[in-house]
Amino acid sequence: MSGERPIGVIGVGWVGLVTATCFADMGHEVIAMDIDAAKIRSLSRREVPIHEPGIEKLLERNADRLTFTTEMEAVLESARLLFCCVDTPPTYSGDADLSRVQAVVSQLADDGDHALVMKSTVPSGTGRAIRRDAPGLSYVSCPEFLKEGTAVEDFLHPDRVVIGADAGAEWAADQIEAIYRPLGGEIVRTDVASAEMIKLAANAFLATKISFINEIANVCEEVGADVTEVARGMGLDKRIGPSFLRAGVGYGGSCFPKDVSALKQLAGNTGYHFQLLTAVIEVNELQKRRVIGKLEKHLGSLAGKTIALLGLAFKPDTDDMREASSLVLAARLHGEGATVRGYDPVAERPASELLPSVELSGSAEEALEGADAAVLVTEWPEFAELDWEALRERMGNALVVDGRNFLDAQRLRDAGFAYEGIGLANGESDEAREARESAEAGSR
Ligand code: UDX
Repeated sequence: MSGERPIGVIGVGWVGLVTATCFADMGHEVIAMDIDAAKIRSLSRREVPIHEPGIEKLLERNADRLTFTTEMEAVLESARLLFCCVDTPPTYSGDADLSRVQAVVSQLADDGDHALVMKSTVPSGTGRAIRRDAPGLSYVSCPEFLKEGTAVEDFLHPDRVVIGADAGAEWAADQIEAIYRPLGGEIVRTDVASAEMIKLAANAFLATKISFINEIANVCEEVGADVTEVARGMGLDKRIGPSFLRAGVGYGGSCFPKDVSALKQLAGNTGYHFQLLTAVIEVNELQKRRVIGKLEKHLGSLAGKTIALLGLAFKPDTDDMREASSLVLAARLHGEGATVRGYDPVAERPASELLPSVELSGSAEEALEGADAAVLVTEWPEFAELDWEALRERMGNALVVDGRNFLDAQRLRDAGFAYEGIGLANGESDEAREARESAEAGSR
């Protein structure tokens, strides 16, 4: 907005790019910096290096308010608020790797003119450590809660905005509050350590909800209940709520696995054993492997069988494959001696790097041609629209394991498929079950 100093954004990965383009769309001048010169060049040409709906339009619409640079000096000269959006990947021990954050802090003038606004997810205590090293720098924790695939929408319509600042940084917190206020959503003003903890606790709680419903799903399979019905009945209780109760092959992505282990590790470093999170992580690992058992139930040994993975990204509407369930599934299937094919509508490039031994197909139909089973890993809408009746004839064996309870089970069964979901009542008639069991006994 005219008269204001531009907003600085440091690190234009996924969070930084969403933050920069959304601030620009709200009418602010933004200067965004990254050390990756190739990325800055492509953004200056208005080319978007990530798959995130809405970003291209925002970049185009607000081109005159967005400056991209590799020079920290240029950011420090014009901006006062510096939104830090560099990544904090997990280390081997499970702690967050803060080297990129530290590299940013080491370049900041300790002159009292700037405020570092931390959007990167960092362990509780990071703000305190940074202020110890750079006492003149104002520090604000402003964690982001964006979801990949709906990040622009989430940014522009937040449930809440958390702003954590200690004495001396109120000026910056006031400015940040003024920037976010037009978006609506509750503003939570608090101290730095609590703001840092809110982010980790929120993600750990959502991951706990997913592991919880996945365990309920596993019990549902044993007692003949249907987890989607159970989740619906549970979710109507306002104290529980309906979201994050979709059972499936477990959570993945850049945040949940990293943040859950970072919080567990953070607690462990203080001598506190966070037992619940240990179970959340273990359930998530085991959940991916249950698919193997479902395949074996129908196919016997998987050695020499061809299995097609439909969807490789960790969720739809993204090309992100970090901690995707497809990675674990492909490794386990290879371990069992299966040939693995894979198809994803957008994640082909990361898939070719991360899944070198998977045969990547150009379409779902190609992946399924002659395959012994389809495993739906990511619920891309196009998989529901496939001509499953025609595919029944083209597959070597009519088996679908639906890792997201996404497909129309009845339609697939009517088309002649054996269909396995996660935590669903089997849907088999007694006669069909008897026929299958006697066929299984015969093949042993
Ligand atoms: C998450 C948080 O939601 C967001 O607030 C935070 O800023 C970053 O981490 P994201 O990783 O983009 O966002 O994806 P999300 O939609 O939350 O899904 C995470 C994983 O959980 C996906 O693998 C998804 O398939 C899985 N999931 C989600 C389930 O298995 N069941 C559910 O009910 C919901």
